[in-house]
Amino acid sequence: MRKKFRRIFLSYRFVLTLIVISILWSEWLAVKFQALFWEKINGKSDCSSVLVVADPQLIGYRNEPWWVGPIARWDSDRYLQMGFNRALQHSQPDLIMYLGDLIDEGLTGSLDEFEMSAKRFHQIFKTTGSEQLLFIPGDNDIGGETEYVREDLMQKFKQLFPSYLNLSKINLHATDLHFMNVFNSELLLEYSPKTVLNQRIIVSHAPIMKAWNNVLEMVSNMNSTLILSAHDHTAWMYTKERNGLTWQSTAIRWDHVWSGFIGVDHPLIEIQIPTCSYRMGVANMAYGHLVLCPVDGRTMQASFTLLPLPRRYSQIMIYIVLLTWV
Ligand SMILES: *[C@@H]1O[C@H](CO)[C@@H](O)[C@H](O)[C@H]1NC(C)=O
Ligand SMILES: *[C@@H]1O[C@H](CO)[C@@H](O)[C@H](O)[C@H]1NC(C)=O
Repeated sequence: MRKKFRRIFLSYRFVLTLIVISILWSEWLAVKFQALFWEKINGKSDCSSVLVVADPQLIGYRNEPWWVGPIARWDSDRYLQMGFNRALQHSQPDLIMYLGDLIDEGLTGSLDEFEMSAKRFHQIFKTTGSEQLLFIPGDNDIGGETEYVREDLMQKFKQLFPSYLNLSKINLHATDLHFMNVFNSELLLEYSPKTVLNQRIIVSHAPIMKAWNNVLEMVSNMNSTLILSAHDHTAWMYTKERNGLTWQSTAIRWDHVWSGFIGVDHPLIEIQIPTCSYRMGVANMAYGHLVLCPVDGRTMQASFTLLPLPRRYSQIMIYIVLLTWV
């Protein structure tokens, strides 16, 4: 009996079956399975759905060894695409925000490589065409962290990643939207409503509250109501009372919908969205789903949940174990 078991256990057919199952799982089923557990945010028809993509950081053409590069790019692009397709279906967004570090080697690569990466980017993050889009750059795209922000790359970025916004069309009649670049203190108005304003959203690649006191003071004084940021690859929420001098941080739960009010009568909220790439050295990756619903002329209800992604490195480990077994 034991002998027979050993024989089956070691037979090629058995190992082959395991390999087929693990390929089916990792390359096809895992994302679908995970998406079954994503929280659904129920909103009425006057709510706006926003899908937030942080730090996809598409692998470039220089940092990988030449023989790893093509496979690494292929695998990581595919991972981003599978997750994004699911997130798109799940959130049915009116607006998709890309919070910077879209590519990894924007700063260190050539302009041709920048264009090649942008082309791959638009193939990966293929939308239905009806979503509004906001692209902001991060330090890996145009610099800023340990060097100056490069104006030529900023222009290139705008040309390759054009935003399209008309917030009044998606029930955000009274909302304006600014891009804050903390690295050079540039504040750009991305969208302004024609009516009286009640929400002011700031999008920033780097988190503002925990690190940039001067910027926080500035956006707080201009009555901002919501900040969205990325950069650290982890999920956090920061809150500051309107007239308070300090802020508080809380970790965002991964299986939960957070809900709260935003507006000038409510605390300033910052949501930091984790990376969607498995290459960033963190165990948990996700897309972010934000739903904004009007409450009254001054206030909106914001609901936020993470759409977690499978752990690609565990899948690759299983492949390696199975292949060494053969
Ligand atoms: C924005 O949307 C509104 C409402 O649908 C429309 O009236 C307006 O023409 C649009 N503006 C632009 C610039 O497309
Ligand atoms: C911010 O809101 C306060 C109170 O509503 C108002 O007095 C002030 O003028 C506003 N500041 C800006 C820059 O909108």
